[in-house]
Amino acid sequence: MIFEFQHPDLQVCVLAAGRGKRMRSNKPKVLHKVLGRTMIDHVLHTVESLRPRGIAVVTGYASEMVQAHVGQPRNLEWVIQDRQLGTGHAVKQCEQAISDVRDVLIVCGDTPLLRSGTLAKLVAEHRDQDAIVTVLTAKVDSPSGYGRIVRDSIGRMTGIVEEKDATDAQRLIREVSSGIYCVRRDVLFDLLHKLGNSNAQGEYYLPDIVPLALNDDRAVETAVMQDATEMLGVNDRAQLSSVEDIMQAHITRDWQQRGVTIEKPETVRIEATVSIGLDTVIQAGCYLIGSTHIGDECRVGPYAVLVDAWIDDRVEIFAFSHVHDANVAMGARIGPFARLRPGAQLDEDVRVGNFVEIKNSVVNRGSKINHLSYIGDTEMGADCNIGAGTITCNYDGANKHKTIIGDRVFIGSDTKLIAPVEVKSDATVGAGSIITKKVESGGLTLSERPDQRHVSHWQRPRKKNH
Ligand code: UD1
Ligand code: CA
Repeated sequence: MIFEFQHPDLQVCVLAAGRGKRMRSNKPKVLHKVLGRTMIDHVLHTVESLRPRGIAVVTGYASEMVQAHVGQPRNLEWVIQDRQLGTGHAVKQCEQAISDVRDVLIVCGDTPLLRSGTLAKLVAEHRDQDAIVTVLTAKVDSPSGYGRIVRDSIGRMTGIVEEKDATDAQRLIREVSSGIYCVRRDVLFDLLHKLGNSNAQGEYYLPDIVPLALNDDRAVETAVMQDATEMLGVNDRAQLSSVEDIMQAHITRDWQQRGVTIEKPETVRIEATVSIGLDTVIQAGCYLIGSTHIGDECRVGPYAVLVDAWIDDRVEIFAFSHVHDANVAMGARIGPFARLRPGAQLDEDVRVGNFVEIKNSVVNRGSKINHLSYIGDTEMGADCNIGAGTITCNYDGANKHKTIIGDRVFIGSDTKLIAPVEVKSDATVGAGSIITKKVESGGLTLSERPDQRHVSHWQRPRKKNH
């Protein structure tokens, strides 16, 4: 067998059926992104790395939308909860999907900071203690919103009380439920069938399996999380941004440990899906988004935005440049204030200067486009020099047309190349030309220039009082 289970006797159940009303959104909560990846994908990524027997994901609100947005096909089964009658009710829907395993690990889809090591530890403790139910808890400074862990005089957990059902005294309890449980499969569904819904929200609460298990004299344990921030749940947009900040700090630290210099890290956004090579320097205010890859020994910024960009080794991207879905080869230098749009492919040692926009074009090795130009739908050879203000006029209002430029071409400043048009290798085009026909190799090509006049008796207007 190629795929090896690390936890062959474990099934994971991910709860993601709720709408997340507090987000005030048209899309389900778990599809909101934290640093470029949906919350559900963060959680699935984490639980997948435990390599369990299977993963059941409960969806309900906009379930088609959730299913359509989950990344690659995984070892998972979708379970539908038609009406969101509570977390206990949600787990109960998995009775068919979760079969003959020893334990079920239940996690929520709205806790993207969760780490797999924490879950592995929970499962190990649950098994060491031979517990029936183990609740992962955390000690926090502000327990507001979480279920509180209620213990008796000798410290044994007697139940979990939701904020809305808690007495004033219970609300002061600082130990809370993470919403994460490890439960023996052979008792889980019996307990769930016994759940009632007489509580403040009229819901079937998963936490109520704790008193039910205790009633049956089952071993119920708690495991305390070392880092309570990992269980932070996202219920509204304020929590979304706090969680994003925490994750950003982790990601930044990770890249620093892997040999990336990050200046003013608190101003930089590096999404979870980005990769960066050794000895690269990321300067203040950079946004590295989506599938962006940056190679070794690059310098980016300050204030550069890279979206789904592929940047090879030793590339410099100067301040305020914007790169979207473009490829930049080794040794190229971009910006400041350059814009590379989708389909821009720059070969080695290409130089793109300030206020230059390049779209859907290949620029071969060593060519320079240093100032104020638009290059669209173009194939450009190697070692060209494109003068300031050169425009490829590629669009007639309905169709895009190509400009083909050979090797070692020199285009004088302020030239318009009206596509479709071709400029052969080693051609030189005079400044200010309007090129509408093929330019042959060698020599000088230029379009007719308007006459220059001199008016000797003209006086420059003067301002009064000066
Ligand atoms: C829940 C727990 C609380 C815990 C907290 C940790 C309950 C009753 N409360 O509260 O003890 O401290 O998580 O973050 O379990 N869901 C469904 N179907 C439903 C209801 C919810 O799939 O019918 C899913 C939601 O999509 C969400 C998760 O379960 O992913 C938790 O639901 P949520 O409403 O966020 O519960 P909390 O109030 O945060
Ligand atoms: Ca929650």
